[in-house]
Amino acid sequence: MVVELLIDKLVQGGDGLATHEGMKVFVPYSAPQERVRAHIVTQKRDYAVAEIQEILEPSPLRISAPCPYYGACGGCQLQHINYQGQLVVKRLYLNEALQRIGQIFVPVRHVTAEATPWHYRNKTQYPVGATGDGMAIGFYKRGTHDLLDVPACLLHPVEFDRLREAMRAVFAATGETGYDEARHDGNIRHIVLRQGTEDGGLLAIVVTRTPEFSTRAAELIAEQPGVVGVAQSMVPSRTNRIMGSRTRVLAGRGYLHQSVLDKTFRVSAPSFFQVNVEQAEELCRKVLKHVAPKGDELVLDLYSGVGMISLIVAPFVQHVTAIEFDATAVEDAMVNAQAQGVRNIEFVCGDVSRAISQVASIDVVILDPPRKGCPAETLRRIAALKPKRIIYVSCNPATLARDLATLEQLGYTTYEIEPVDMFPQTFHIEVIARLGPLGSADE
Ligand SMILES: C[S@@+](CC[C@H](N)C(=O)[O-])C[C@H]1O[C@@H](n2cnc3c(N)ncnc32)[C@H](O)[C@@H]1O
Repeated sequence: MVVELLIDKLVQGGDGLATHEGMKVFVPYSAPQERVRAHIVTQKRDYAVAEIQEILEPSPLRISAPCPYYGACGGCQLQHINYQGQLVVKRLYLNEALQRIGQIFVPVRHVTAEATPWHYRNKTQYPVGATGDGMAIGFYKRGTHDLLDVPACLLHPVEFDRLREAMRAVFAATGETGYDEARHDGNIRHIVLRQGTEDGGLLAIVVTRTPEFSTRAAELIAEQPGVVGVAQSMVPSRTNRIMGSRTRVLAGRGYLHQSVLDKTFRVSAPSFFQVNVEQAEELCRKVLKHVAPKGDELVLDLYSGVGMISLIVAPFVQHVTAIEFDATAVEDAMVNAQAQGVRNIEFVCGDVSRAISQVASIDVVILDPPRKGCPAETLRRIAALKPKRIIYVSCNPATLARDLATLEQLGYTTYEIEPVDMFPQTFHIEVIARLGPLGSADE
């Protein structure tokens, strides 16, 4: 069925939302306030999905997407919207998610923009697949596990494109095979590339199904321009997980260095680090502003990774306790603290939900959980510590809204919501929320 639709707004995932005869219709790659003729491709009881056939009246935000793979590749959702427009639609969506999911009615501040919203990523994960005549290395098509071989991406450094092509040639020359997901056969499942800010050094991580990987292939990859290290991670089972639990270094070194606000962080191959360093600096500035340190605070940094936030905050407060469950990241954090001469941080390696029970007295809690957010029981333990401030850093507005609602039930109020555009061209957004005890004069 073909229908004419007026797109009202963008919703979770970046699809446009229109209404047709009382039914919600989701329209991928549409923009707010445009009229489209669209073909209904999925019809459910309470919603439909439609594909644009013709744009009848374009949105004032619409531009032509620069990437030739846009639409086919599932990596970006907003390239057809100008950059200022992207900031507006993300802010509106964040505001709506907070209100609808969490009943949080705090005005969302303007999104802090990225100065150069292209080539900002310092890490990219490419799925690798088997094809009849070789291997595909690229990205999944939208909503599928079908691989699209994308030779150049506008979100990561051009060095990644060159290295990935060189790796493809190395794999072919050394007889390495791409992973066949349907048959659970073939070896190379993913390539993960990372680049450091310090020396632009490249780290290549090959994720394999079996423990085997050609020594010669590792040597040849290590010889490529800019490569400082080659590592292998193994994922033997049928799973969507990208990295395995152990990473072994095959050549060179297994880490690189990222610089944030003039501090240098060692980041090992499997350790988490923000993918956009320029915006990570914005994030850290805002977190520090919300900590509003006077010098005597006891701070708890939950989900602390390689210690980026802890080490930015530590010089301004009395003490930081940092909790992280990835042992490699904790090791990086300890190396980073030593290199920076910081002594007032205690690094705890453990699951936040358990390790938090050892914390006694605290003034400020900073938490930066993964996309799924924070377990309610952990939020209860945080509230029971009665911190004067809670600073919640989130990359998922939906779970942030849910968790803020829980904290509000536990006696806290959300005072400020500040988004940072960590992921231009995509619908993702990073958010910093500041809470204080209900009724505190902390507005
Ligand atoms: C979004 S990252 C934030 C890292 C750090 N705050 C930063 O900005 O670099 C989340 C971190 O939480 C860790 N993590 C996830 N679940 C955890 C848990 N249950 N307990 C402890 N750490 C966890 C991950 O390993 C990751 O390093």
